[in-house]
Amino acid sequence: MSWRFWERSRAEKPAGAPPALPAALTPQLSREIRDSFNEASHDEEHFPSTIDPRIQHVQVLLKFFGDLTDKRVLDVGCGKGRFARVLSESNPRVAVSGLDISEAMLACVPAGVGKVAALMTDLPFAASTFDGVYATESLEHAVEIERAVAEMCRVLKPGGRLVIIDKNAEHWGRFKTPAWERWFERRELEKLLERDCRKVHSEFISYWEDVTPDGLFLAWFAEK
Ligand SMILES: C[S@@+](CC[C@H](N)C(=O)[O-])C[C@H]1O[C@@H](n2cnc3c(N)ncnc32)[C@H](O)[C@@H]1O
Repeated sequence: MSWRFWERSRAEKPAGAPPALPAALTPQLSREIRDSFNEASHDEEHFPSTIDPRIQHVQVLLKFFGDLTDKRVLDVGCGKGRFARVLSESNPRVAVSGLDISEAMLACVPAGVGKVAALMTDLPFAASTFDGVYATESLEHAVEIERAVAEMCRVLKPGGRLVIIDKNAEHWGRFKTPAWERWFERRELEKLLERDCRKVHSEFISYWEDVTPDGLFLAWFAEK
C-alpha cells in the first residue's frame, strides 16, 4: 500500500514543530481522511484486527468500565474493532457499537459488534444513549476536537464513563503523521472533558504493566 500522502505531509513539517491543523473538517477533508483509512485497512501490520488483552490500553478500559453486563458501549473511531472485540469477549452481555469514518475498517469489525459509518463530530445517536464511550487513537484524527469531545459526552448517560487514549503532544514528531493529525496536552483534554463531565483525570500508560510509561500515551478518564 502507499503511504506517500502521509509521508509527504509529515516531511513538510520539521520534527517537533507544532502541527498546522486544517481549521475545519470540510466534506473534502473528511473524504480524504476516509479514503486514507480505507486504504490503510489493507495494512494489517499497522492497523491490526486484534490486540493482546494484556496490553495496558485494553486493561485500563476494562478496569475503568468494570462490569458491563446489559450495558451499552460505543467505540468511537473503532477501526477494525480490536478493542470492541475484547470488550465483547470479556462481557458476554454487553452491547458494543463501533463507529468509524471508514467502511473498509468497519468491514473487519467482528460479528456481534454493531457497525456504524459516521463522523465522530456528528454522532448519530440520541443524547444519553451509552453507559460507556471510548476512543483509542482516533480523536487525534477528528480535526474538530472540541466538537468530537462534546459529542462523546452528549451520547453518554449521566453516570456513564468515558475514556480517551491518545498521544501526548510533548512527543510530537516521533512518527510520521498525516496533515490533519494532532496530539494532546494533558490539561487540554481534561479541560474539554470538564465542560460536561466530572471526576476527570488522566494518567500516562505504557503497553505492558511492568514497563514504566515513556510519556507517549495518555489515558483520560471521566464520568458524566
Ligand atoms: C489509528 S486508527 C485507530 C483505530 C482503533 N481505535 C484502534 O485503536 O484499533 C484511527 C481510526 O479513526 C477513524 N477515524 C478517523 N477520523 C474519523 C472521524 N472523523 N470520525 C470517525 N472515525 C474516524 C479511522 O478511520 C481509523 O479507523
